[in-house]
Amino acid sequence: MSEQKKVDKTRRNLVVATSVLGGAASLGAAAPFVASMWPSERAKAAGAPIEVDISAIAPGELKVFEWRGKPVWVIRRTQDMLASLKQVVGNLTDPASEASLQPEYAANEHRSLNPEVMVMEGVCTHLGCSPQQRTAEAKAEMGGDWAGGFYCPCHGSKFDYAGRVYRGAPAPTNLPVPPYTFLSDSTLLIGDDKKGA
Ligand code: FES
Repeated sequence: MSEQKKVDKTRRNLVVATSVLGGAASLGAAAPFVASMWPSERAKAAGAPIEVDISAIAPGELKVFEWRGKPVWVIRRTQDMLASLKQVVGNLTDPASEASLQPEYAANEHRSLNPEVMVMEGVCTHLGCSPQQRTAEAKAEMGGDWAGGFYCPCHGSKFDYAGRVYRGAPAPTNLPVPPYTFLSDSTLLIGDDKKGA
């Protein structure tokens, strides 16, 4: 093989290896977006509400949808996750969500319409990174007051399972809750709360 051909082959291999590594890194960084049932890509980009099927979300599972270019998390909270919201109240900056962004119907302890279904924008209120889920078992890594929730790897903000920020974190307020409504037990409309049943 000529020297030029050897160089070309090495370059090709490098490009393939980089693409594979890049794909693996992004898969590891966050749960993939789940396709919503409608509307079209163009309408979504314009900020239209999205209708999502939550019937297959298992207890404790987090699914990520995309609305207005932002990740929106839906978790089917377990009874343990709901119980953890009471345990951590004393460690939070804004436990009653008085200074945080959510619709009126989500200004409660669980910050949601239905306690078992959490709907939250997965965007840190510090500088906009996307936090990652850390279970209650991560106490050793997260600190003794940890009861499960979300951790922002950018500057270390911690949030509970209602998106309420821990005191001392750089994020000033709780994670935002978008407007949403239930169209049925298994279908959510995210981005609009006026069309609900
Ligand atoms: S962006 Fe989340 S802690 Fe800074």
